Amino acid sequence: MSTNKGIQFRKVTTRTFSVMKQKSEKIAALTAYDFITAMLLDRSGIDLLLVGDSLANVFQGNETTLPVTMDEMIYHTKAVTKGVQRAMVITDLPFMSYQLGVDDAFRNAGRIMKETHSGGVKIEGGERVAESVRKITNAGIPVMGHIGLTPQSIHQFGSYRERGASEEEAFEIFRDAKILEEAGAFCLVLEKIPASLARKITENLKIPTIGIGAGVHCDGQILVTPDMLGLNKEFQPRFVRHYANLEEQIVSAISNYIDDIKKAKFPDESESY
Ligand code: KIV
Repeated sequence: MSTNKGIQFRKVTTRTFSVMKQKSEKIAALTAYDFITAMLLDRSGIDLLLVGDSLANVFQGNETTLPVTMDEMIYHTKAVTKGVQRAMVITDLPFMSYQLGVDDAFRNAGRIMKETHSGGVKIEGGERVAESVRKITNAGIPVMGHIGLTPQSIHQFGSYRERGASEEEAFEIFRDAKILEEAGAFCLVLEKIPASLARKITENLKIPTIGIGAGVHCDGQILVTPDMLGLNKEFQPRFVRHYANLEEQIVSAISNYIDDIKKAKFPDESESY
């Protein structure tokens, strides 16, 4: 239990998610990359914050998630955890931090835990990362799996189209879900797969599923925060709902600020010494 100005918060843990699944209580998750946003999301009551490697796209401006490094993930996670009192924080293992093998995955997961106050790590892939998931969880580090459209494999997939549309692909994704659960993952992200497949996986696992573009039957939902806040109107995939239109609001606020400066309307007397 931690306190903030007399208000008591119960910290969200892997156990919380397990209980939420048993009670059919939905899990609300978002991404965060900096202190102030993490603080606001936490105060709003979000259950889980992911320091996603999507920071390579939305924070660094890259085309893919591949360029982000371990040092950068650690830098951003340190900022996020400072802003969070209640939510569970999970950090993505970035591209090439676990693909070399189990020992590398283990060392990098441990580094994240030791240096950032994160609550666990996320790893993309199914059967091929199962041994890493087993070794990391055996060391007491919570692991979130991520299957379906796994953006670190974009060059192998060739496009960001949905995964699991064919019977063969759906079978493979379902199998990967069961393997990850057996390997010790505490929950799974299901990205861009048919809602019917996500439902089948959700109904057949004891651990919660968190969907992004995977329909309403998942145990929870996650979106990339700058996308759902409407910070970039040009990025409008079907699975993103805009809960705000911050692009317009920010551009309007900054235009007003510039205008006031140019007309010598800012600062006024009350804003001067
Ligand atoms: O990196 C990320 O933001 C993610 C979410 C989209 C699940 O992996």
